[in-house]
Amino acid sequence: MEKLTHNIATEILHKNMLNVNLRRHCYAVSVAMRALYRYFKKEGRNESSVNNLSEEDWGVVGLLHDADYEITKDNWEKHTIMLLDWLKVYDVHSHIVEAFKSHNTKVTHLREPETLLEWSLECVDELTGFIVACALVKPDKKLVSVDVDSVKKKWKQKEFARTVSREQIEQCSEKLGISLDKFMEVTLSAMQEDAVKLGL
Ligand SMILES: [Fe+2]
Ligand SMILES: [Fe+2]
Repeated sequence: MEKLTHNIATEILHKNMLNVNLRRHCYAVSVAMRALYRYFKKEGRNESSVNNLSEEDWGVVGLLHDADYEITKDNWEKHTIMLLDWLKVYDVHSHIVEAFKSHNTKVTHLREPETLLEWSLECVDELTGFIVACALVKPDKKLVSVDVDSVKKKWKQKEFARTVSREQIEQCSEKLGISLDKFMEVTLSAMQEDAVKLGL
C-alpha cells in the first residue's frame, strides 16, 4: 500500500473539499500542527506520537482532519468516519488513524483524545480559527498585523469570536504542558509564515 504523504493528503483534500475558505482552515491547522511537532521535539518530549511520527505526519493530520467536512456537514455523525474509510487503501500509521478517530468523538464516540498528537489537534483546531478572527478585524486584515498581545486582548472579550471554544483551547496547559501564551505564540508564528497560502 502507498504511504500517506503530504502530497497524497493534499490530493485527497482537494478532491473532496472545493470551498477555498474551508481548505484554508485545513492548511492553517496543518502548519500549526507541524510547528507543534517541532516544539515538542525541541523540548525533548518523550512520547510515542512524537518519537514515532515525523513533522510531515503531524502536518497530514492537520490537513486531513476536516477533509470530509464539506460532504458530511449535514450528516455530522459521518464526519471522520468517511475520511477513515477513504484512508483504508493507504498505509497510515496507527497514531494518525487514532487521531482522526478522536477528532469528532463527541459525536462518533470512537476514541477520547490521549496522545500529544490528538490533544494538539483538539486544541489548535479552535485556536487557528480564533487567530483568523483576530486578523480579520485588523485594518489590513493581515496576520502580519496580529501579535500575541492583541490575541490575548481579544481573548478577554467574551463577545469576540464567541463561537470559538476558549475552554477547548485552554486545555493546552493541562494536556500538552504548554502555557496558553506559548501556545498562541507557536501557532500564530506558524500561521504567519504561511500567510499567503491562508489568504491572510
Ligand atoms: Fe472537524
Ligand atoms: Fe477543524
